[in-house]
Amino acid sequence: MTEPILAGRGVVKRYGDVTALAGVDITIEAGEVVAIVGPSGSGKSTLLHVLAGILPADGGEVFLGRQAITRLSETERSKLRRSQFGFVFQSGMLVAELTAEENVALPMLLAGTPRDQGIAAAREWLVRLGLGGLANRRPGEVSGGQLQRMAIARALAHRPQVIFADEPTGALDTKTGQETISALLTVAKETNAAVVIVTHDVSVANRAQRVIEMRDGLIAVRAAA
Ligand SMILES: Nc1ncnc2c1ncn2[C@@H]1O[C@H](COP(=O)(O)OP(=O)(O)O)[C@@H](O)[C@H]1O
Ligand SMILES: [Mg+2]
Repeated sequence: MTEPILAGRGVVKRYGDVTALAGVDITIEAGEVVAIVGPSGSGKSTLLHVLAGILPADGGEVFLGRQAITRLSETERSKLRRSQFGFVFQSGMLVAELTAEENVALPMLLAGTPRDQGIAAAREWLVRLGLGGLANRRPGEVSGGQLQRMAIARALAHRPQVIFADEPTGALDTKTGQETISALLTVAKETNAAVVIVTHDVSVANRAQRVIEMRDGLIAVRAAA
């Protein structure tokens, strides 16, 4: 049996009177690709944000390996988030003023990598994702699919243990969406990163090893894909 890389135990999250997560149990293995599906408002994004330590939980625990990240201070959590996790969200994750190579290097620079080294590594990641010629473009100067591949390069460059993706293909056409997911899964596999991906797209969910369905703040169905 493989060791779980990430686990939620009885995770509760409320927004005022709304219980977005009503005690979720979830386990993700190292290198596993898990899709989270379910109706709008069922708690998918909230679960992703709590598992990633972006939002604090109101109850339960989240473990990264054996470490309970729910018990860390905000400072410790954000440090851990930067080093261990990567994020691919639909929009807003790339800095408009920075070039592609600067955007991809940013998490490494924040983690203390010297600038030259970070930029060199970023260029390699851009090449890997087919964006070798776009290293000096800004996010506003590339297509939607290229933008998402840029975001993937940024999410993976510091070799995180877990990649969180929230509707990463939501703004893309089907073909570009599929290519984007292929790029994500290929590089995640190379680095043995687990991928937790929230999606409405059945063709994306079909690429996962496991599909988790959420309903009313709880996991409803667990089926093999
Ligand atoms: N920032 C927020 N403030 C108040 N309610 C929220 C907030 N974010 C989400 N919710 C509510 O929490 C529930 C779960 O939302 P969410 O996790 O975004 O679901 P999903 O991603 O599945 O669409 C919904 O009822 C939603 O309206
Ligand atoms: Mg959502």
